[in-house]
Amino acid sequence: MNTIVKKINEDNFTDTDLCEAAKILREGGLVAFPTETVYGLGANGLDEKASKKIYEAKGRPSDNPLILHIADVDSLYEIASEVPESAKRLADEFWPGPLTMILKKNNKVPYSTTGGLESVAIRMPEHKIALALIKESGLYIAAPSANTSGKPSPTKAEHVIKDLNGKVDMIIDGGKVGIGLESTIIDLTSKVPTILRPGYITEEMLNNVLGTVDTDKAILKENKDKNYKPKAPGMKYKHYAPKANLTIFEGNEATVIDEIIKRTMEKQTQGVKVGIIATDESKEKYQCGVVKTIGSRKNNKSIARGLYEILRDFDDLDVDVIYSESFLDNNLGQAIMNRLLKASGYDLINVR
Ligand code: TXA
Ligand code: MG
Repeated sequence: MNTIVKKINEDNFTDTDLCEAAKILREGGLVAFPTETVYGLGANGLDEKASKKIYEAKGRPSDNPLILHIADVDSLYEIASEVPESAKRLADEFWPGPLTMILKKNNKVPYSTTGGLESVAIRMPEHKIALALIKESGLYIAAPSANTSGKPSPTKAEHVIKDLNGKVDMIIDGGKVGIGLESTIIDLTSKVPTILRPGYITEEMLNNVLGTVDTDKAILKENKDKNYKPKAPGMKYKHYAPKANLTIFEGNEATVIDEIIKRTMEKQTQGVKVGIIATDESKEKYQCGVVKTIGSRKNNKSIARGLYEILRDFDDLDVDVIYSESFLDNNLGQAIMNRLLKASGYDLINVR
């Protein structure tokens, strides 16, 4: 298949620029597009055949449900069978934005989109191109992250091209995304609203609107029960993973840096190529390995935005192992550590 790559400037485009993409979607094709979190791979979410194509292109297990993207709150009532008060309040506060809500589905939504579940994941993205594309197509767009299953989510069109060129009809290049981690997922079908995937919208922000929220035990750093099944089917897969083995070191910052240097030197004498995930603050301290900075400790948002790109960069550099510093797992840090831990297969070493 020939993949059309179309550059669109988020701050300077018209609906006409999206005509072709919208037409492809209406005809059952696949279009990758930028959102504020990560790039998505879109198809008509109510068309069984179209959403099946998403699974094929990504190599995604069919029990892993898709998020339906909408462009206005009223659409909620078109695809959910019940819209609780909590959903209205969250939509008021956080939509458009990086929050996905799980609600009971109605019978317009095919099981092929929900992985056989009675619930459906719904999000109204904030990115101007994403919103305009949903409107222009007149569809509810099912869109997982636009990566090959298991690889880090794409934060730039180049990442999408690398994974999906020749497998999708069009890739819209809207530049680098703003947030860099997938949306927060909150399940509103359970008695107490429950966070199934941490993201930019933090537990505290959700608590402020809803009063109480739970967090699925599976995503907590301290959960050591490997057999516990996460409530979001996608969270059970080894995910976000770079090619090289990633190990994370936690503890006092200076001790962590010393430990990474020591291990890097050892590996290098054995001819092993080591990548180091450092920060703006620490990068100068490493005089060995292939050092890349993920962002600044003074700004967690920069770390979130740099995470997937650095993992993909190390793929391109063909390093054999990656050593990473760790980050505080509060607020946005919870999402950062969740993704980093998953990328490492929970290989965390405490050097205190
Ligand atoms: O930021 C995002 O959410 C991005 C952009 C493109 O919108 N999308 C994204 O989609 O991250 P994906 O498919 O990579 O992740 C969707 C997650 C998976 O873990 C899936 O299992 C979960 O949402 N999910 C979807 N529907 C669900 C449902 N009905 N119940 C529980 N989990 C669900
Ligand atoms: Mg994904």
